[in-house]
Amino acid sequence: MANQSGLDPLGDELRSARSAKPCVLVIFGATGDLTKRKLVPSLMGLSKDGLLPAGFAVVGFARRPWTDASFREVLSEGVESFGRPETTEYFEQHRDAFSYHQSDFSNESGYASLKEKLEQIDAARGTAGNRIFYLATPPSAYSNILDNLAKAGLSTEANGTFARVIVEKPFGRDLTTATDLNNQVSAAFHERQVFRIDHYLGKETVQNILALRFANGIFEPLWNEKFVDHVQITVAESIGVGSRGGYFEESGVIRDMIQNHLMQVMTLVAMEPPAAMTADAVRDEKVKVLKAIRTFEPDQVERDTVRAQYTGGSFGGKDVNGYKQEEGVPQESVTETYAAVKLQIDNWRWSRTPFFLRSAKRMPRRVTEVAIQFKQPPHMLYDGAQTQPNMLLLRIQPDEGVAMRFGAKVPGPDMRIRDVRMDFRYGTAFGGETADAYERLLLDAMLGDGTLFARSDEVEEAWRIVDSIIAGWKQSSKPPEGYVAGTWGPQLGEDLLGEDRTWRRP
Ligand code: BG6
Repeated sequence: MANQSGLDPLGDELRSARSAKPCVLVIFGATGDLTKRKLVPSLMGLSKDGLLPAGFAVVGFARRPWTDASFREVLSEGVESFGRPETTEYFEQHRDAFSYHQSDFSNESGYASLKEKLEQIDAARGTAGNRIFYLATPPSAYSNILDNLAKAGLSTEANGTFARVIVEKPFGRDLTTATDLNNQVSAAFHERQVFRIDHYLGKETVQNILALRFANGIFEPLWNEKFVDHVQITVAESIGVGSRGGYFEESGVIRDMIQNHLMQVMTLVAMEPPAAMTADAVRDEKVKVLKAIRTFEPDQVERDTVRAQYTGGSFGGKDVNGYKQEEGVPQESVTETYAAVKLQIDNWRWSRTPFFLRSAKRMPRRVTEVAIQFKQPPHMLYDGAQTQPNMLLLRIQPDEGVAMRFGAKVPGPDMRIRDVRMDFRYGTAFGGETADAYERLLLDAMLGDGTLFARSDEVEEAWRIVDSIIAGWKQSSKPPEGYVAGTWGPQLGEDLLGEDRTWRRP
């Protein structure tokens, strides 16, 4: 079947049964990197798969004196460099649907003229009065934009149209600022109109956590403290902070990664089955997990968390800077580029199963995975068995898939037992191109499905926990540990797991 542009869309098995209504996407801060690297290439990925609605347009709203033509040129280069194969032709088909609106974010008249422009687009392109506003600006501009959208009447849904807002992270830098931001958002939009993006939730393999748990009969009976010894969630990156030293210095890995991406993955692994796969039912269960994690006391921070900073080293055959030598980082910095945290979920299911979360820059490999380690059999019948506990490994990226480690008999006359792996690989099982996380999330926002977006209470609960860790670190007289760039982090990080447990070295 051909899509509206006449080009080949997805194969039948992978086609979505859901179709989005016509709409205009207004991107605030459209001259920034996110628009050209992620948003527009993802929209063209959706177009390639036949998933963009017939009536569709994008308005870039920003301060720089660009024109429609220069905006389109930058986007076209973005699709060429960062889009999926053959998406440039889809951009050419849609070129006229992209326009630029120059205004300061604080200038009310810029919103009045935006409103007029959107009405003209509705008439010309059949976008039916539906709008999605994407906040891709620095967070300092959010309050102005939200306020002005409401004043211009652009946040109101009238006559069956929709008005939605997508908010990029960071959602605040602590509980107080996150609550302020949530209040600002809710002064302009109802929660059902709000879509807080955490791009980890758009990753296929993160969504597969729920499918694995709830579409199968064999895992869930074991998914509790009786059978699971502990859970490890790792998001390791090989890159350093690069040119983002200034930003990173203010956030550290705990704010940049753990408060959002790792906590989100953790809630999906730990949550109870929802009553239905609806946005609120799923998010209610995720919030309950966060609520069951106690606020850290200072002595617990000392005992159950480790922070560290990378020092210079040799990486991939090249000498690389330590964190303190990166641009924008002061010599006296105590910001962590490695954090490992032991979380105890105080509920019936997990009371005796710790969850260990770790994330860092400048580790040996880029890898995101969840390892569920099971308890040992109650009695080992085989002498000298060279086995480790059973482990279910969810490989989020790269090399997406699921693996199971178990003991098997080594062929031969003796009863020797060794670990083997059963392996499912996405690429082999399904083939095809994997869509970027932003494709899925942009489509869901167009469909009005908030399941894969963070709700205000989730964000606030995650900050409550993270704030208490940061407070403990501030009080502590111990500076962050050091770890050499290209290694798996400090020894203390290993010690955090306790006896008989080790972090995986993927
Ligand atoms: C972002 C962080 O949210 O996620 C970055 O700000 C990090 O510091 C990035 O590099 C990692 O995302 P991914 O999809 O590459 O794992």
